[in-house]
Amino acid sequence: MQDTKPQEEGKLEIDRYERIYIILAAAMLGVFFAALIAGAIIYGVRLPTASAFINPILIDETEFANPGLRDMGDGNYEVYIVAHMWAYEVGTTEKTAVGLPILRVPEGAKVTFNITSRDVQHGFYIEHHNVNLQILPGHIASQTVTFSERGTYHVICHEYCGRGHQTMGMVIIVEPADGA
Ligand code: CUA
Repeated sequence: MQDTKPQEEGKLEIDRYERIYIILAAAMLGVFFAALIAGAIIYGVRLPTASAFINPILIDETEFANPGLRDMGDGNYEVYIVAHMWAYEVGTTEKTAVGLPILRVPEGAKVTFNITSRDVQHGFYIEHHNVNLQILPGHIASQTVTFSERGTYHVICHEYCGRGHQTMGMVIIVEPADGA
């Protein structure tokens, strides 16, 4: 004799609410995945990666031998910075009361930071600006940022780099451009 509903026996019964939550969870993953793909393809979002590689032993035979600001004209600037335990070599002698180096840039400057490390992993985070870089020995991290508002902005090393990590920082002062 043939059973009229042979599948019924082994069919997996899922509670109605459980099914709803499974569908919702799967849909959410779908939305996240779509957002990831849209971000990468439509908005060009990329993780900051090393723009170039450098031999840390030979830093002083490169542009990094003279760290600091370079005026490239038309409001564009390049900055070379070497990070080490526990300071940034910025090429300026001006320092804050607690000894942090000060970098001055004119208001509206479009500044490309090129940073590398002499020793271990460091970070480079500029407050109120979208700059959050990991600085690795052997890598040059680069990012361009426009300083559109005057002010004093702290930079901190936000990757643990040893005993003096919490003292590692610098200050960027955005001042009125000449003639302003
Ligand atoms: Cu350098 Cu933390």
